Amino acid sequence: MTEKDTVVLAYSGGLDTSVAVTWIKETYDLEVITLTIDLGTQEDLESIRRRALEVGAVKALVVDATEVFVDYFIWPALQAGALYEGVYPLATALGRPLIAKLLVDTARRHGARAVAHGCTGKGNDQVRFDVAIKTLAPEMEIIAPAREWGMTREDEMDYAAEHGITVDVTRKSPYSTDENLWGRSIECGVLEDPWAEPPEDAYAWTTAPAEAPDEAEYVEVEFECGVPVGLDGRKMDGPELIHELNRRAGPHGVGRIDHLENRVVGIKSREIYEAPAAVLLHAAHRALEEMTLTRPALRFKQTVSTHYADMIYDGLWFSKFHQDMAAFVLSSQQVVSGTVRMKLYKGQATKVGVKSPLALYRKELATYDEGDQFDHQAALGFIALHGLPVRTQARVLKAALPEETLRPKLNPPELTPE
Ligand code: ARG
Repeated sequence: MTEKDTVVLAYSGGLDTSVAVTWIKETYDLEVITLTIDLGTQEDLESIRRRALEVGAVKALVVDATEVFVDYFIWPALQAGALYEGVYPLATALGRPLIAKLLVDTARRHGARAVAHGCTGKGNDQVRFDVAIKTLAPEMEIIAPAREWGMTREDEMDYAAEHGITVDVTRKSPYSTDENLWGRSIECGVLEDPWAEPPEDAYAWTTAPAEAPDEAEYVEVEFECGVPVGLDGRKMDGPELIHELNRRAGPHGVGRIDHLENRVVGIKSREIYEAPAAVLLHAAHRALEEMTLTRPALRFKQTVSTHYADMIYDGLWFSKFHQDMAAFVLSSQQVVSGTVRMKLYKGQATKVGVKSPLALYRKELATYDEGDQFDHQAALGFIALHGLPVRTQARVLKAALPEETLRPKLNPPELTPE
């Protein structure tokens, strides 16, 4: 008897991927190895492993990838200032390329012909997985049951019942969620109405700002080269530091985001996020850059941040363009060291203090008090030359153009051909 071919399935333990195990076996006649990856919030890997074997996996693998996730994905994204459309810290988008890489590595190690994931056909995640997998392993087949089977939620429940797959009703929720230690996303249900305020039960990591403590809390974040290395004077490794900030900032209602976002596949979708640590750290990191980068460096960095965030969101992690941008970011971060004091209060994480051994803010230049070293007389010559082009142009245009021709004409009138 010849052995069957194998597929490695990214397995969360939820209904979709549990049904996928059976469905792949029936549809493709392949053996299924499940791979469950902890990105910092997986409570019970062993029970997920047991469930995978129960629903028919030949082998159930689990791995804690939290540290790699922080060092290779989260910190570089923070250094880059990567916030998609200015607000979303990209938790899910950052996790996908790592999961894709672990799928490919595992498939190769176990001689599997294909990899599989539980994404549907209308989201960003299928794009991120497929692009990453095919970039890393062009020969690998990809199976995406939820994109292929055309079952509704109801069909899926029926299929599960018919095949003896138990549905954990205690975990049933009106929402579809995803999470790792960088953040949590919430979609579906009433949230699909962009006019509806998100109900409190959508949130799991944060307290409503109105219910948050009346007393503010302060936290001091220490950065070395743009990477957080300590809290309140205590050195901490990455995962511990992020967990600690989620734990402290969440109860103050910090990190709630309501984003009408542009998906890669062209859909606008309403996404709710909770990311207390990410929101706090991006604000603190930004404050330290204000202190340590020059104006043109800040302006250019802003442009890079936008492209960097789009690159991550669009699933292009394993690209040369990423490496090019990362080289600039890394170089820019050499001076981003120091400490930022953040105030947590009623839904906000606000910078209230910054210090750095490499500060470009100089009291002797900024002060209006005693000890001012700024040369006030030098300002006159500067102003004369700085304003020269504007003054010149104003003079020329005044003579040449009547006022109304300066109005933009953007809409041509309708013409009547005869
Ligand atoms: N809209 C976010 C993103 O594209 C969150 C996606 C969450 N994914 C999920 N399968 N629930 O990154």
